Amino acid sequence: MKIYIEDIAKYEGQTITLQAWLYNKRSSGKLHFLQLRDGTGEIQAVVFKGNVSDEVFELSDKITQESSVEVTGTVKKHDRSRIGYEIDATDVKVIGESVDYPITPKEHGTHFLMEHRHLWLRSLRQKAILRIRHRIIKSVRDFFDNKGFTLVDAPIFTPNACEGTTNLFKVDYFDQNAYLTQSGQLYMEAAAMAVGKAYCFGPTFRAEKSKTRRHLTEFWMVEPEVAFFDIYDDMDLAEEFVEYIVQEVVKNNRADLEVLERDISKLENIKRPFPRISYDEAIEILHKKGNDTQWGADFGGDEETLISEEFDKPVMIHHYPMAIKAFYMKQEGNKAACVDMIAPEGYGEIIGGGQREEDIDKLKAKIKEQGLPEEVFGWYLDVRKYGSCKHAGFGLGIERTVAWICGLHHVRETIPFPRLMDRLTP
Ligand code: 4AD
Ligand code: MG
Repeated sequence: MKIYIEDIAKYEGQTITLQAWLYNKRSSGKLHFLQLRDGTGEIQAVVFKGNVSDEVFELSDKITQESSVEVTGTVKKHDRSRIGYEIDATDVKVIGESVDYPITPKEHGTHFLMEHRHLWLRSLRQKAILRIRHRIIKSVRDFFDNKGFTLVDAPIFTPNACEGTTNLFKVDYFDQNAYLTQSGQLYMEAAAMAVGKAYCFGPTFRAEKSKTRRHLTEFWMVEPEVAFFDIYDDMDLAEEFVEYIVQEVVKNNRADLEVLERDISKLENIKRPFPRISYDEAIEILHKKGNDTQWGADFGGDEETLISEEFDKPVMIHHYPMAIKAFYMKQEGNKAACVDMIAPEGYGEIIGGGQREEDIDKLKAKIKEQGLPEEVFGWYLDVRKYGSCKHAGFGLGIERTVAWICGLHHVRETIPFPRLMDRLTP
């Protein structure tokens, strides 16, 4: 009977067949120990000379790393193994041979591994990251679905710059200019007026010309938008959302977090309420810590790290100076009713959002002031023209969130096939 490794416990004492890959092998005299992985788990098969034919014993000696194999044997309890079982092999077949697999158990440099990303994904560490990423995405969907949000897909081709014009990817769109979307937000504002609570979830693009450990050119963002919400409702939602995601991972992916040697107690601590500080208070913290960022400047990675050191939970910084924020933000005095959530332990900003300007005249003035092409914002202004209301939302970057939860220094390992300024392959 063919089974998956994850189901092994149900078959103790029975004869089963696994289809898997050999990720490591050890031999001693009359025994070969085959380390197998099938994507659902890892297990050791013991090939004892007395239990198999001579051909199978010889074959087991020669199987190369990452060959795909079919192993038949009896499931036996084995307390010292991670999974608690091992296989006493009675037959071994090679399905697909693997010759000179480039990623060996020795250490490899990052460049080499990135060049072989399509194979690197098979490592147990990368598999753990893929599984946690999957859990995060599932939790994102579950959270909003359970709260009565409607998933509304935003377009990828767009004529609008949502987050400034400096990092747009321009594409030829027949005889017009189009850009790859930086954010689905403007479309979600329209959608919120239709369904009340909307969210979109998809890839977004930014021609980031800086090579930092937090920036990808293609990343995934989830963006809720809610009608009749203000900035404080927005922060409440963001906080509940992030707590939910982290606790779902803690609950369901403990083994994966252990593979990554993540300090799980730090994640268990991520419970509401999260600290909230104003931009002015953040500036004070920076000054106290010897950073001389002037009032009015935006924060970079270094500042975010310094601020996050003060807290053991994500911190929400609200009310930045309007002058450094996007045209659509609701203005309050010289501040914007906006919020950034900074992850703890120096993983940087994971959420950006806030309340939107609902007044059509103020919005028109901002579009002009920031030199944005008014003609492509006609539809967006219509949202204010017909039954405008206060509304707010935010965007959470999936890769930054994966980096934080998995404890990864660089975002390049958080997405299966990262796109960076200097990387388009594999
Ligand atoms: O702060 P940002 O630019 O906010 C927006 O795009 C809003 N329109 C969202 C909204 O209100 N609906 O981006 C949101 C998040 C950041 O906090 C960060 O987590 C992530 O997106 N992000 C990136 N992640 C990886 N690489 C990049 N280049 C990123 N740029 C932003
Ligand atoms: Mg931001």
